[in-house]
Amino acid sequence: MLIDRRNFARHRPWIAFLLVATAASSAWYFFASRGAPVWPGGGSPPGFTFGVLGGLLILFEFALWGRKKVRAWRIGRVQDWMVAHIWLGLLTVPLLVYHSGFRWGGSLSAVLMVLFLIVIASGVWGLWLQQILPTRMLNQVPAETIHSQIDRMVRFMVDDAARLVSATCGALPGEEPDEEEQQEVASGAPVSHITVGAVQTVGNVQGKVLVTRVPKAAVPDSEPLREVFRASIAPYLLEGKKSRSPLALPNKAESIFRELRNKLPLGTHEAIGILENLCDQRRQLDRQDHLHRWLHGWLSIHLPLSVALVILMFVHIWVALKYR
Ligand code: HEM
Repeated sequence: MLIDRRNFARHRPWIAFLLVATAASSAWYFFASRGAPVWPGGGSPPGFTFGVLGGLLILFEFALWGRKKVRAWRIGRVQDWMVAHIWLGLLTVPLLVYHSGFRWGGSLSAVLMVLFLIVIASGVWGLWLQQILPTRMLNQVPAETIHSQIDRMVRFMVDDAARLVSATCGALPGEEPDEEEQQEVASGAPVSHITVGAVQTVGNVQGKVLVTRVPKAAVPDSEPLREVFRASIAPYLLEGKKSRSPLALPNKAESIFRELRNKLPLGTHEAIGILENLCDQRRQLDRQDHLHRWLHGWLSIHLPLSVALVILMFVHIWVALKYR
């Protein structure tokens, strides 16, 4: 959840509540610990109260999962749950630290405390990522698409690029133009147009839609373009940075394409420019995938550990009540 000036009013009462509740519980705790030889723990009146409240808050925190996953649960808006999740989650820290009396206790309570601290830290980390990564995505990935469409988009890119190369260098057997392209040729238009860039085909992409004029006849001496396409451009478009191609690095890519232009006839330059642009889009898709993993990956720590936390918390309560 992005916390910014526009939605800060929604957070303000919860932040005030967090501060007041923290101050009130601190006052009670430190007042109760006056003159005591050790810090009061879970058996003391404030420690016990904070344990119960902290435990209830943890159950509320966990219920966010149900609210998001179970469609039939329509209690409150998810946005409001999220705001409460953040600030009440932070309130559990002073409550449960006071409940512990600043001691790790036995091994069960130590494991429980470590789990708790990791869940809190991962939540804060995830919230921080949600503040910074969307802006980074906007700046670094102007051709952002729906993440689940990336593979499809890559296939379109490779097909477009292959069509462009075979139109420029001449179709090999088995690469003849499809029916629509043949009709266009038969219509006698002086040049054929090819639309390159999956940009226009998938997702809400803001990248350029590239329409290029392709010479009807293959450009003489352009064969090296096909070779470079097969050897390095196509594998890079397909695999992205996993292909370990130098095309993944903008500077290297620029010099590779500059060299190609110097080597090849003028008639191929527009196609080279488009291939360069497709490689740039491929780099953006890799970047998008990378940022997406960071934006969502932390939940794979936060969620399973919060499940473990809830289970272990019940074991802790049972043990504490049994051996009281
Ligand atoms: C005892 C503490 C906590 C527990 C048990 C807990 C548990 C959970 C659960 C079960 C989810 C739902 C996962 C899902 O979407 O599938 C969640 C999501 C989340 N939690 Fe916590 N959480 C705790 C504390 C915190 C704290 C302190 C913060 C931040 C300050 C935080 C931030 C978040 C965020 C940002 C999400 C993701 C919501 C979204 O954007 O989809 N959590 N947490």
